[in-house]
Amino acid sequence: MSAGSRAPLQLAILISGRGSNMAAIARACLDGRINARVNVVISDRPGVAGLTTASSLGIDAQTISWQSARDREVFERELSVAIDAHHPDLIVLAGFMRILSPRFAERYAGRMLNIHPSLLPKYRGLHTHRRALEAMDTEHGASVHFVTAELDGGPVVLQSTVPVRPGDTESALSARVQATEHVIYPRVIELLAEGRLAWKEGRVWLDGKVLDAPLVEDPSVHARN
Ligand code: GAR
Repeated sequence: MSAGSRAPLQLAILISGRGSNMAAIARACLDGRINARVNVVISDRPGVAGLTTASSLGIDAQTISWQSARDREVFERELSVAIDAHHPDLIVLAGFMRILSPRFAERYAGRMLNIHPSLLPKYRGLHTHRRALEAMDTEHGASVHFVTAELDGGPVVLQSTVPVRPGDTESALSARVQATEHVIYPRVIELLAEGRLAWKEGRVWLDGKVLDAPLVEDPSVHARN
């Protein structure tokens, strides 16, 4: 199939808060920069800003409350039902702050992405900016990776790098990293939508070759920050 005749990639985006990555992806879809469509945005927390943003962009915005679910199994069952009702090709975790069970990860193996605010495998988990500052790193960044059962451990597709500047605070560094997230996440979805990126037999393939090391985004995208 040629790129022009490909059906748009159908997305379900999962959020927990502000949703700036979700908005960057949704705008790229609406502007026609990527051949994809956001079918639904689902938050595990009610009333978050990202839900309002999604609705204002004309996207179905739902809450599957973590707090109201009896346990993780019940939560994940409800979440799967909500996701599957929209028949997505790809599930996009965008600031979704719940740890998912191996079972859930396996259910969507090869069709679930996450963005993490560090240069994985460095700093899995929380407080990545603080940890980069404490370690006196001179470089920091973000990673887009396929989700596997291992927390923040799936194969990385694309990373952005930013300098850590003298006197940086956690919030200054976080803002610098986030500006690059809004570039690299749509870019990876675009690669999938174009059929250039694929997951086969537990490995990531780009343009017909196994991707052994992450791609690194052009540093000029963050030159202004
Ligand atoms: C992003 O910086 C993302 O990398 C991070 O949460 C932020 C969400 O911002 N995700 C994680 O820490 C996941 N472990 P957003 O809601 O404005 O997109």
